[in-house]
Formats: sequence, structure tokens, C-alpha cells
Amino acid sequence: MDRELRIGLLGCGTVGTGVVALLQQGEEDIAARTGARLRITRVAVRDTARDRGVALPDGAITDDAASVVEADDVDLVIEVMGGREPAGELIRRALELGKPVVTANKELIATEGPELFALAQEAGVDLAYEAAVAGAIPIIKPLKESLAGDHIRRVVGILNGTTNYILTKMTEDGTTYEEALAEAKELGYAEADPTADVAGHDAAAKCAIVASLAFDTAVHGEQVYREGIESVSATDIRVADRLGYVVKLLAIASEVEDQMAVRVHPAFLPKDHPLAAVRDAYNAIYVEADAAGELMFYGHGAGAAPTASAVVGDVIDVSRNLLQTARGPVESEHRAQPIRPIEDLQTQYFVLLDVDDQPGVLAEVALTFGAHGVSIAQVWQEGDDDHAQLVLVTHRSREGDLRATADALADVAAVRRVASVMRVESEVFSS
Ligand code: NAP
Ligand code: HSE
Repeated sequence: MDRELRIGLLGCGTVGTGVVALLQQGEEDIAARTGARLRITRVAVRDTARDRGVALPDGAITDDAASVVEADDVDLVIEVMGGREPAGELIRRALELGKPVVTANKELIATEGPELFALAQEAGVDLAYEAAVAGAIPIIKPLKESLAGDHIRRVVGILNGTTNYILTKMTEDGTTYEEALAEAKELGYAEADPTADVAGHDAAAKCAIVASLAFDTAVHGEQVYREGIESVSATDIRVADRLGYVVKLLAIASEVEDQMAVRVHPAFLPKDHPLAAVRDAYNAIYVEADAAGELMFYGHGAGAAPTASAVVGDVIDVSRNLLQTARGPVESEHRAQPIRPIEDLQTQYFVLLDVDDQPGVLAEVALTFGAHGVSIAQVWQEGDDDHAQLVLVTHRSREGDLRATADALADVAAVRRVASVMRVESEVFSS
């Protein structure tokens, strides 16, 4: 094979080393599938002295990332450095130079995606980002290409492995939140700063990317309503189990009339929902479409080899296009659907109250729900002596009304504490 494409690799950490290894292991097949040999010629890192544990060409490694992008012997760029800058500046420059880019950077795509897509279009080259959402799982291409003829109604994902691992350990082993987080860090699932994981930022960025594709609307990560798992308690998990649910951090993008809802938060999910079976650090995405019906994509959402699989798949794709002076399908933003305020969300809610166990308390609590137009579907009480925990599940209600109810409950003298409020996602097409 005579043809060759030369790659500049920005970053050689967890994902970068995985990419180098995969390109080397699959060299012959990859060349045959691409129609050209793919060769890494330049690699940018911060610490050039550190052994990367993979074979890199002599003289390829540098701490001058801009020089990699500019180099004459780089035809396409892989960005696996992470962070907004300098990654953003480097990608912009590569595109201006007419070099296609493959990135795993969800933070950047969720914040600057539209500008970068426009630059890529202007330059007539690809910007591919399959690895930015759910690691190895193909979801960008299915949403952008395979399902392009369908009408997607809703996408529900478990898009963060760290939080899914923590919730699985709390559910199955009775581990505390702190113990489970420490284990997730030891196993390398959590980001360097686990706040990005546990507070839902990571899942919100991925949710924005998925929603943009599913609903032809540019969604910024900051537009995604977000709650993390920090306040999920052992009691929430125990009560969920008793009611037939598991607690999961869900990323939900749904179409509601002429608006779209985009949200990331912990939720009660029925045990028989396919996503409830997604354990440990696995990710999954459940798609509901008019013609295709229900689809589920499942697999490893992180890690060197799984993420490299998605990156190298993209590299082959953009290389094929480069060889034909073509480019892949572009992102569409033509629907520009407004985002529905969270207060207008309609779903069921679980409410846990610590109350004084005395005559009339249940009636007063029920009156408070009723006064705000929130209908109770289930209620039970457990406790001892003068203290009780009151568990309530509502019928489908408006979030704004539920919030007003929770505020009013906090002012009821016999209510010691509104211990938890969590959404219950039990309806297939809830909004
Ligand atoms: P990482 O292990 O921290 O690696 C980052 C690499 O970039 C390192 O080699 C670092 O150099 C290099 N780097 C950072 N800033 C640089 C700069 N200014 N100049 C030159 N080199 C620089 O990160 P990662 O886990 O591989 O993640 C990379 C990207 O993939 C991120 O966008 C992340 O969100 C995404 N991603 C990661 C995973 C995963 O499982 N890890 C999964 C999906 C997506 P040094 O090694 O010298 O510090
Ligand atoms: N920290 C992320 C997770 C890695 O736990 O899923 C992949 O983005």
C-alpha cells in the first residue's frame, strides 16, 4: 500500500496511549479498511521525559502542541488532551489549516461545538467526536446517520461510569457514598477532580451533545438542568428497592410538544427497565424513535482501550473522507427548539419526610400536597417512638408545584426535615 496519512496526536495519557496501541496492533486491517497506512508522526505531551509505555517514533514527542498542528508531516489531528484550552485553540487552528480533527473532548464539544462545526464546514474537513460520549459505545454515528430518517422522541442515558459505579455499590453492597467514591477513584473511573462526575457536569456535557444531535438543536452544556448524586442516601436507595425501583443518575433529552427537555439528575427507575440492569461503571443509552421503536446501546463508557476504539474508528472514517476529498455528514441545527424550563417538567416524585409521629400529621402533610395541586399515589410510614419517616410517591405532577409543596412542607411544624425529593421516571414517554 503506497498511500499514507500522517497523524499528529495531541495528548498521550490514558486515551492517547490507548490510541497509539490500537493503531499499532491493528495496523494491517486498519490500512486495508482505510485505503492508506496511518502513521503517527508527532505527539504532544506536557512532560516529554515520562515513559508512555508505548512505542513512539524517534523525535516525535514534544511539549509544543502548536507545532504538532502546524507540522507539514501532519495530515490529521487527534485531540486527546482534554479541557477547553489550549485544546480549543489547537483544534481551531487545525481546521483552519484544512486538517480534519478527531477528538474525545466532551467539555469542548458541549460548549463550543457549533463554532467548531462551522469552522470544519468552512474548511471542508471533518470534526469527529464519537469518543466524547460514552467511550466505546457508538452513539454519535447512530444519532447523526443511522437514525437520520427517523423521528427521535427521547434519549435516556447512563452516561457517567463513576456515578453508576457508586450507585451500584451503594445498592448492592450497602456501601456508603464516601466508600464507593474512594473505590471508584482507586479503580481509575473518576475524573482527576471527581466533582465533574458526582455533581453531574460530565453527564450534562454528554447529554447536551446527544440532545443536539437527537433534536437538531444546538444545546450548550450549561443549558442542561443538572443535579448530582452527592445527596443520594442509603435510605433513598432502600426505599427505592422496596417500591420496585433502582436509583440511577439519568441523562434525559426528550421532546415535549414544540420544546425539548434536557436534564441530568438521580431518579427512581423501575427495576424492569432495561437501563436498570446497567451496573458498575458501564454506560448505556436508550433511544425511543417513532419508526425504530426502542433501541439500547450498552458498553464501556471509559478506559484506555474502549475509548481508543471509538477514536480510531473516527480516524478511519475521516481518513477515508480525506482520501476522497470529501467530508462526512454535518450537524444540523435547523429545528432550534426552545428548552423547556425545569419547573414545567411533568413526572412523578418521591418525597421522604422526617416527621413527629403524632395525631393529625399525615392529614396536614396530605393537605399541603393537595393545596399545591399535587396528588399522592402512594404513602407509608415507618419509625419508632415519637419519630417517623413518611414516604410519599406522587402522581404525575408539575415540578414547579412539587417544589412549592416541598417548601411549604418545610414550614409545617411537625415536619422535622424534608429528607429527600427525587423524580420517579416510570412512564415510557414522560416529559
Ligand atoms: P489524561 O490521561 O490526563 O491525558 C491528557 C494528555 O494530554 C497527557 O498526555 C498530557 O500530558 C497531555 N496534555 C495536557 N495538556 C497539555 C498541553 N497543554 N500541552 C501538551 N500536552 C498536554 O486524559 P485522558 O483521560 O486521556 O482524557 C483525554 C480526553 O479524552 C479528555 O477530553 C477526556 O474527557 C476524554 N475522555 C476520556 C476518557 C477516559 O476514559 N479517560 C473517556 C472518554 C473521553 P502529560 O501526560 O505529560 O501530562
Ligand atoms: N469520568 C468519566 C466517567 C469518564 O466516569 O464516565 C468518561 O468520560
